[in-house]
Amino acid sequence: MAAAELSIVLPTFKERDNVAELVRRLDAALVGVAWEAVFVDDDSPDGTWQTAKAIAAADPRVRCLRRVGRRGLAGACIEGILSSSAPYVAVMDADLQHDERVLTAMLEKLRSGTCDLVAATRYVEGGSAEGLSNKTRGTLSRLATQITAKVLEVPLSDPMSGFFMLRRDSFDAIAPRLSPAGFKILLDIVATAGPSLRVAEQSFVFGKREQGESKFNIQIGLEFIGLLFAKLTGDVVEPRFIFFILVGAIGLAVHLAVLRTSLAAGVEEFRTAQIIATIVALTSNFVLNNEITYRDRRLKGFSMLRGFIVFCLFCSIGALTNVGIASWLYSEDPMWWVAGAAGAVMGAFWNYAISSLFVWRTR
Ligand code: GDD
Ligand code: MN
Repeated sequence: MAAAELSIVLPTFKERDNVAELVRRLDAALVGVAWEAVFVDDDSPDGTWQTAKAIAAADPRVRCLRRVGRRGLAGACIEGILSSSAPYVAVMDADLQHDERVLTAMLEKLRSGTCDLVAATRYVEGGSAEGLSNKTRGTLSRLATQITAKVLEVPLSDPMSGFFMLRRDSFDAIAPRLSPAGFKILLDIVATAGPSLRVAEQSFVFGKREQGESKFNIQIGLEFIGLLFAKLTGDVVEPRFIFFILVGAIGLAVHLAVLRTSLAAGVEEFRTAQIIATIVALTSNFVLNNEITYRDRRLKGFSMLRGFIVFCLFCSIGALTNVGIASWLYSEDPMWWVAGAAGAVMGAFWNYAISSLFVWRTR
C-alpha cells in the first residue's frame, strides 16, 4: 500500500451508526487518491470506537484513536492530526453532514501550491447551511460569523465551519498554540497562523443529520466568545478572567438596583439596605460564575453550598482589602478615583484568584 497523501481526521462522539457509511462514502469519493482515515473517539458510550476499530481491523486505510477521560471536538481534531503524517490533512465531521465529494477539489487546490489551507464554506455561491437542525442554530451561526468578521481579521466567509484541509507543515508550525476547547478549530488555526497562511475556500452544502444528534450546547457558545476575547488581547488575557469581570459588572448593577428598591420600599436604615444589596449581589455573582465563568467545573448539590460559603468568606476579605488599599492610597494622595479604582482592581484580582483556586479549583 502506498503511503497516504491525505489523512482525514474524523472526530466522533456517539456516531456509531454513521462510521461505516462514512468510510464507504470516502472510498467512493476518493478514487485515485492515497488516503487514510483517522477516527478520534472520546470513549463514546454507544460503542463508536468498537465499530470504528472493527472497520480498521479489516481496512488498513482506517485507524481509530480512542481517547479516555477527555472530551472536546477541537482537542480531538488536534490529536488526530498530530497522530498522522500524510503531507495533506483534512478535518471533517463524521455524521455525514459534511459532503465528502468536495474533498478532491480541496486537495487539487492544495496540490497546485497556491494556498496552504482550504476552508469548506456554506456561505458563498454554491454553498448552503440548510442542514442546520433548526432556525436558532442558523441564526446563531450567522451571528457568530458576523461578529467574527467585525472582531478578527480572518479571510473566512464561514469561520464556524469544521470542514477544511491544510498542509501538514503549516499545522505543525502552530500546533502548540492551539486551544483544545470548543468547536472552533478552523478559526483558531487561521487566527493563530496569521496572514502568512494562504487561505482558499471551497463551497459545500451542509447536509441534514440522519443518525444520532448534535453535541452543540451553551458551553460551546461560551467557549467561542472566550476565544474571540483571547485573540483580541493577543492571548494575554484568559477568557475566564473576562467572563469573571463581566459577571462582576452585572453584580454591581444588581447591587445598585436592589439598594434603590430596598430604600424605595421603605427600608429605613441605609446600612440595612446596603447589607441586603450585598447579599443579593454576592449570590447573583456566585450563581452566574457557576453557570458561565466556571461552567466546565460547575458545582452542584452539597459542593455548591460549600463553594458558596467559601466564595462569600473570601469575597468579604477581598472587600476589606479593597477598602484598606483605597483608604491608604487616598490618605497618601487624595485623588478619589485613583484610590477607588486601585482598590476595586485589587479586589477583582483577589476574588478571581481565590475563586479559581479554592471555589472552582481550576488548578
Ligand atoms: N471526539 C469528539 N469529542 N468528537 C466530537 C465531540 C467531542 O467532544 N463533540 C462533537 N464531536 C464530533 C461529532 O461526533 C461529529 O462528528 C462532529 O464532531 C460535529 O459535531 P456535531 O455535534 O454534529 O456538530 P454540529 O453539526 O451541531 O455542528 C457543526 O456545524 C457547526 C457550525 O454550524 C460542526 O461542523 C461544527 O464544527 C460547526 O462549528
Ligand atoms: Mn453535525
